[in-house]
Amino acid sequence: MTQIDYSQKIPNNVDLGSDKRLQRALERWQPDYINWWREMGPTNFNENDVYLRTAVSVERDGWAHFEEVKMPDYRWGIFLTPHQKEPKIGFGDHEGQDAWQQVPGEYRNWLKRLIVTQADTEPASVEQQRLLGMTAPSLYDMRNLFQVNVEEGRHLWAMVYVLHRHFGKDGREEADELLQRRSGNADHPRILTTFNEPCEDWLSFFCFTMFTDRDGKYQLLSLAESGFDPLARSCRFMLTEEAHHMFVGQTGVARVIRRTCEVMNEFPHADPREHGAIPLDLIQRYINFWASSSLDLFGAEVSSNSANFFAAGIKGRAYEDKYEEHTAMDQFYEFERFQNGRLTTESVPMRNAMNEVLRDGYVEENLKGVEYWNRECEKLGIDFSFRYPQRRFNRTIGEYAGSRFDLQGIPIDEDGWNSQVNGWLPSLEDKAYVKSLMQPITERGKYAAWIAPPKRSINGQPDDFEYVKL
Ligand SMILES: [Fe+2]
Ligand SMILES: [Fe+2]
Repeated sequence: MTQIDYSQKIPNNVDLGSDKRLQRALERWQPDYINWWREMGPTNFNENDVYLRTAVSVERDGWAHFEEVKMPDYRWGIFLTPHQKEPKIGFGDHEGQDAWQQVPGEYRNWLKRLIVTQADTEPASVEQQRLLGMTAPSLYDMRNLFQVNVEEGRHLWAMVYVLHRHFGKDGREEADELLQRRSGNADHPRILTTFNEPCEDWLSFFCFTMFTDRDGKYQLLSLAESGFDPLARSCRFMLTEEAHHMFVGQTGVARVIRRTCEVMNEFPHADPREHGAIPLDLIQRYINFWASSSLDLFGAEVSSNSANFFAAGIKGRAYEDKYEEHTAMDQFYEFERFQNGRLTTESVPMRNAMNEVLRDGYVEENLKGVEYWNRECEKLGIDFSFRYPQRRFNRTIGEYAGSRFDLQGIPIDEDGWNSQVNGWLPSLEDKAYVKSLMQPITERGKYAAWIAPPKRSINGQPDDFEYVKL
């Protein structure tokens, strides 16, 4: 069954109607979710029609169907990528065995923890972004923000389905708590640090969707390999939606850069701020912050948890298929240890380095993204090169936490850090300036002075399309 049944209260392709108990439990969770959305979702825009895409089937072209919808009426639901024939566990100690359709008892707690941690990031990001609609630089951007928000909401649904369907009473309790934690709340915060950071301006939002959503992509890629088949199939479908979020980040930052370069060409002797643009070095500082914070989300470089998850077959490597060998036994990873103020190379068992293996793929993709931004500068003849900070910079988790490194990853002392940090991370002045630019532009086809229009509209609509009806 791949067509999505929208006649149901909860749209789904998992034949929810055949399991009345589960259906009732999810129908009880649904109003709590809608209350959470109304309280913590995009502020002040719940009554507006927004041009959004909704999944109508999980087939290749079925998941991008566009229509105008009020966000609380968005068809959130439960969609799993269809079954492969006889799915097998693709890695670890159980490689080649049948994938699990039910939770394997010995791995129940580990799986629950992985699912809850992933699930928690979905509503967290909606909370972080809840006020951004009020200062959108255009209707196009406002629509993209809301698209990201409703899809993060659906990702929460996807994970809650797995919790309700497979984890009994504790699964239901975890699902309730997912609606109770709050991003940035001192007493009841979200689980991961980056998801408690304020995201109050659009430059932060674009950096977040570039770097933090891409962490999400890599976590989903590793869970999409899971031997626990219902989790793997949920994550595979989530990945189709995630691509758009990174597009928003990648092109959003590019448009800010393009605008600044245009201003620099027009007024070569002026500070871009005099003309309402954002200086390139200031953009670099925002990149440094969100890039380094998002690197922490992969966890410690050497981790017995990551080894356990891999051995158990519940969390794999991204694109496990591309590896020739899937047990990662008797293999080693060269890892840079930092001890007594010195960097040394140490060989660690590959399984213990799985967080770092995942981080490697992620860093490589970010480097390509930064190259794309540099091409914007080149095209406009501006001599400026954006850099992705070396992964030791500004870390709070793992081997490099608690020590200081510069943007190239060279160890420095506390004084060196203090004297240069204002050039590396957004200063109060930077933040105040960016904040001063955050004035809403709601006229059709118009854009704020600090950002260039996009190269392409959404779904071939005219340039002055009314993406959000205010
Ligand atoms: Fe997500
Ligand atoms: Fe996302």
